Parts: sequence; C-alpha cells; structure tokens
Amino acid sequence: MHPSHCLEEERLTSYEPQMSIPPSHNPPAVAGRLSRVAPFLAMDVLSAAAAKERQGEAIVHMEVGQPSAAAPRIVREAAKAALDRGAIGYTEALGLPALRERIAQHYRETYGVSVSPERIVVTTGSSAGFVLAFLTLFDAGQRVAITAPGYPAYRNILQALDLEPVTVPLRPEDGFALTVEALERAGSGMPLHGVLAMSPANPSGTMIGTDEMARLAKHCAAHGVWFVSDEIYHGLTYDRPASTALSVDDDAVVINSFSKYFCMTGWRIGWMVVPDRLVRPIERLAQNLYISPPYLSQVAAAASFEATEELESIKAGYARNRAILLNELPHLGITEIHPVDGAFYIYADIARFTNDAAGFCARMLDEAGIAATPGLDFDPLEGAHHLRLSFAGSESDCREAVIRLKNWLR
Ligand SMILES: Cc1ncc(COP(=O)(O)O)c(C=O)c1O
Repeated sequence: MHPSHCLEEERLTSYEPQMSIPPSHNPPAVAGRLSRVAPFLAMDVLSAAAAKERQGEAIVHMEVGQPSAAAPRIVREAAKAALDRGAIGYTEALGLPALRERIAQHYRETYGVSVSPERIVVTTGSSAGFVLAFLTLFDAGQRVAITAPGYPAYRNILQALDLEPVTVPLRPEDGFALTVEALERAGSGMPLHGVLAMSPANPSGTMIGTDEMARLAKHCAAHGVWFVSDEIYHGLTYDRPASTALSVDDDAVVINSFSKYFCMTGWRIGWMVVPDRLVRPIERLAQNLYISPPYLSQVAAAASFEATEELESIKAGYARNRAILLNELPHLGITEIHPVDGAFYIYADIARFTNDAAGFCARMLDEAGIAATPGLDFDPLEGAHHLRLSFAGSESDCREAVIRLKNWLR
C-alpha cells in the first residue's frame, strides 16, 4: 500500500471517536480585541453594489479608492516577461535589491532627497507597511495620534494590535489640515508615542505644506514621538507637488504604495523608508510574517517608474473628473467641500440633506444607482453628515453620476 494511504487511514481511525462526541456548547471565542475592529464600510458598500449589478442594475461606482485604469502597459509587459522566464520564488524579505535601488532613485529625482536603498523596505501594499511599522515602533497599549477625518484602517489596525488610537479632530475651517495646534488640542495631557500624518489625505484630499510638515516633525522629535507619514497619494496632486516628510525629517517613517498613482491596487505592492535602526527589526518581522513580498509584483513595480507618460495621462483624467464635480456639485446643493489638493476624493458635508450618511448612501445606491461611502468610515464623530465620492473612475461615469444625482436630489 502507498504510504500516504496508510497515513490517511490512520488519520481517519484516530479522528473517528472524536467525531461521535456531541458538538461542543462552549466553542472557543474570537480574540476580544477584535470586537473593537470595525468593518471598512466602503467595502460593504462595494458588496451591496456588486449584488445589485448581479441583478442587472447599472451602478456608478464612487465608493472605492481605486483607479479604474489598468496598470501601465510596460508594467504588464514586465510581469509577462517574468512569467515566461518561469522561476517565481521568494525574494529577500526587504524586497528585490533592484527595486529598492529604483525607489531610492525616485526620491533623488522627485524630491531631491538622498536615501540609501538599504533604508527601503518593499511591502505587500502599504497596508502591510502599517502592520510592520506599528509592530516595530510601538508596544501594546501605547498611544498613536490619527486624524478624523482619516483613513479608517489606521484605527482598526492599531486596535487589532492592542494599541490606542488617539483621535485628532480636524476642523473644516482649517481645510481639514493636520497642524501642531490640532495635535496639542487632542493630546489630553497623556503622552503620545506616535503621530500618523497623511498628505494628500484620504478622504479630504488636503495636503500638508512643507513648513507645517517641518513643524509637525520638530514637535514629534521634541517629544520623543515617532512621526509616521502616509504618502500613498503622492503623484496625485493638482496644483502643487506634495512634500515628503523625509525632506524635513530624516528620522520619519514614510509609507507609500504602488496602488494609487501607479494604478497597481491588485498587485499588492508598496514600500517604506525607515531610519537605519529599524531596518533589521523590520526585516525580522517581514521574514516571519510573510517571508517576502510577491516576486512578480516587485518586477512589475520596478517598471512602473518608466511609465510616467501613461500615468500622467491617467492623472489628467482625474483632474477633469475633479473639475466636473467641483463645478457641478455646488449647483446640486453640495456646497461644503474642502480643498481636494490631491488624491481622488470629494469629501462633502451633507448636513443640509441628512444626519444619517449611511442611510443616505443606502438610499442613493437603491434609488439612484450611485455607490458612495458614508463619512462614518472616516470620522466616528462628524462622519454621520459627510459623504465621500471617489473620482478615480472614468469621465463618463463621473458625468453620469452628476446627472443621476441631479434627478435624485431634486
Ligand atoms: C490613505 C491610505 N493609506 C493606505 C491605503 C492602503 O493601500 P494599499 O494597501 O493598497 O497600499 C489606502 C487605501 O485606500 C489609503 O487610502
């Protein structure tokens, strides 16, 4: 008999008696800290919209922050060539040396900032970068400042790791900009261990200028606090370029991704730039958490830096969509919109229509066929009267959304 058969039989006989035991009435519980991890409402809206599409309805998608364009042609060609070569294996946990060098070159060319490739960590999307960063920078129970409105996963990842998010409310009259004063107002006297900044921001699109970035970094350094800068929407700016925290603070932890400007959401590939003393601890974590980022995506990502022409023309499409919405929404009564310096979202105060943005979005999906994200995803305090519209889709979708909204709000 084949040895694996023996093994299979053994397994069946040794399990059999257990199968006859009545099902337990005391099943083990899910870890308690996960009860604090909220769902990402944008993804819930996406599944509700997909269910409607399966029933034949035409939905305009403005809920999820992902480019509708495919990854650039040369990116896909680089991936195809790698597939044809065949050997797709693990890489160094910190990423392929060639990609880390190419990212370092990007910092020299784009920002005039010199970082050594050794300080670059390639990650499986910036999402994995947050997990690596938070585990490396903070011990359980430590307090990390995040903004409201802000990207919901920060709070959820922090809570999943037993860290304490400290909400920094941003004010519409400041254009939702994170400032040292906003941090001080939120500090509540207890020490912070980290500050998480984002520029351009999700959902508001607000950018932090170089001077304020320098003030924030200096404030953090003076208080012995880690300064973490999420720069995932860099490249997607409309009037002026975004500054990297590295231009004002060599000790900042910078997180970035190929998902947004580079149109590579599904490739799950991003990077971090970290101070020298973090490289080895992060490498140890990465080795154990996921061994290495995906090889194919790394090869493809390296090619994306040569796709500027194609990527800039995709960005020109976002600029047109942004102009359409900024012009048209005020005529529909959606007037409370802040700067949208960058990224591809409109974050609007819809208090004149509702105080229940989730219900409003559900009705908008049902009655107008437009999927949008309720503000509670981004702001547990003020989000109930806000809504986020993503304009990363096509121009025709954007125009269709305006027509549908006009009929629906009338
Ligand atoms: C501000 C911000 N950071 C990080 C992410 C995560 O992106 P990814 O894991 O695809 O790099 C997103 C996704 O929408 C985001 O909006």
